[in-house]
Amino acid sequence: MASEEKPLVVVTCTAPVNIAVIKYWGKRDEDLVLPINSSLSVTLHQDQLKTTTTAAISKDFTEDRIWLNGREEDVGQPRLQACLREIRRLARKRRSTGDEDPPPLSLSYKVHIASVNNFPTAAGLASSAAGYACLAYALARVYGVDSDLSEVARRGSGSACRSLYGGFVEWQMGERADGKDSVARQVAPESHWPELRVLILVVSADRKLMGSTAGMRTSVETSPLLRFRAEAVVPGRMAEMTHCVRERDFQGFGRLTMKDSNQFHATCLDTFPPISYLSDISRRIVRLVHCFNAHHGQTKVAYTFDAGPNAVVFTLDDTVPEFVAAVRHCFPPESNGDKFLKGLPVRPASLSDELRAALDVDPTPGGVKYIIATQVGPGPQTLDDPHAHLLGPDGLPKPAA
Ligand code: DP6
Repeated sequence: MASEEKPLVVVTCTAPVNIAVIKYWGKRDEDLVLPINSSLSVTLHQDQLKTTTTAAISKDFTEDRIWLNGREEDVGQPRLQACLREIRRLARKRRSTGDEDPPPLSLSYKVHIASVNNFPTAAGLASSAAGYACLAYALARVYGVDSDLSEVARRGSGSACRSLYGGFVEWQMGERADGKDSVARQVAPESHWPELRVLILVVSADRKLMGSTAGMRTSVETSPLLRFRAEAVVPGRMAEMTHCVRERDFQGFGRLTMKDSNQFHATCLDTFPPISYLSDISRRIVRLVHCFNAHHGQTKVAYTFDAGPNAVVFTLDDTVPEFVAAVRHCFPPESNGDKFLKGLPVRPASLSDELRAALDVDPTPGGVKYIIATQVGPGPQTLDDPHAHLLGPDGLPKPAA
């Protein structure tokens, strides 16, 4: 039976979080979500951080509906509407250009969507990228679209288009006014650099004060430094970063990652009124990383910060135990019963007296709430197991187990 004749078509997909090492900050077109510069990111492993989304279409549904982490949300929000419009347009286009039958009924079917994160949405970790990538991917499966999904995901959140692929991903800014060439592409697959590790240092679980969309709008309007960065700095950095990734050059990769994060936060300070996403603890982490690297005489670890105070630290597997010990030393965990280290197992290590002396920071108990240890991972997946569906046969969220 063709899928369009089924009473209920349901698919469940998962999608990853990504972290940019060359940052996206600023749009040249707010409606189409077109950036003022290209960006490059690392896709994080879904074993630690992922969004799961079920999309179901049925002729019996009377309206589009969406549930996020179990709560029904307003389906009318503009970004969500833009994604839905875009996927239905692609579905229509596909059917009308192929030598297939006339547009099937399923195109007019309403959709129910349910989405959950396996990490706290409010933890200040980028959930919108994984969320919109997962939405785009699941909608494409349910409506039978197999074209490039960059535009669908991008309309939800710019950085979401980079979560459509695993490994190392660039979002090419493109030149066209209609955005057709503003697409995400894989630079290298997740198997490319197996030693690379990612440590997320969760500093604060609070929601950010100034969201990315509003923040970057003010930056575009007021920061001459941002314009300079987009025009004169990022093009060279994209080429350099691509080279470092291809060559698995950690020194180059780490240095450029830190510089680009610092420049992004400099453009925030150059914004008027200024925006500041880093906290005192973030700055202490920056100091810790530079002390650690100076002690070793090379770039062993590298930080990057998005629109919030949490640090994402890149390093190689053999450095993880010592760096985690250094973080514990500088930010002694407060015994609140929670596990300080989540994700991939990390071998315990002790600090040498020399390194302890080199870490020129006053310990701040509880400054880092916990660490998530993860690695580079694959792109979105479709789950075949019907038990994974978040929506039941009636198209409503299954009661949480
Ligand atoms: C600092 O993709 O969240 O994380 O397109 O307005 O939804 P919108 O912004 P968003 O911005 C991400 C900004 C960043 C840098 C990055 O991920 O490249």
